[in-house]
Amino acid sequence: MKIVLVGYMGCGKSIIGAFLAEKLQLSFYDLDREIEKETQNSISELFQSKGEIYFRKKENEILKALLEKEEDFVLSLGGGTPCYYNNHELLLKEGVFSIYLKASVETLLTRLKQERTQRPLLHNQDEVSLKDFINKHLFDRNFYYHQVSKIVTVDDKSVVQIVDE
Ligand code: S3P
Repeated sequence: MKIVLVGYMGCGKSIIGAFLAEKLQLSFYDLDREIEKETQNSISELFQSKGEIYFRKKENEILKALLEKEEDFVLSLGGGTPCYYNNHELLLKEGVFSIYLKASVETLLTRLKQERTQRPLLHNQDEVSLKDFINKHLFDRNFYYHQVSKIVTVDDKSVVQIVDE
């Protein structure tokens, strides 16, 4: 089974994915890191130099290539991955089990406040506008986030609890 983690920036996809893979003795892939490896650029640099459309195209190509692998693995997507091209449909493929790590706006806000300058989609937001931005963005993305096999809420849970669930 290929386990794919979905969720908004800051919900914990990468850390939970790494721990889950270790627990299940599977390889772990983080889609952003795979994009960085292939393009030899950081995500921020890619957004800046080539723009979001280029990034989304690479994201789609590399996701497709990963899902075609024979091996089973745990894969953490980027926050926007299911919302572009036909990516959310790729996750409905046989042999893929997708999990939405669902965090409340309050949890996301607390986590993203300190990190917003490093994130290409958030660096224009000040602390006041960030909550509205996340609210609207989540509203837009909710449809895609809910096309999964299972939803796990992450608020107030430890990494161990979430991985067990
Ligand atoms: C994005 C989330 C980021 C990264 C890119 C775009 C998004 O990944 O893919 O900055 O559209 O939400 P994380 O969710 O791992 O931060």
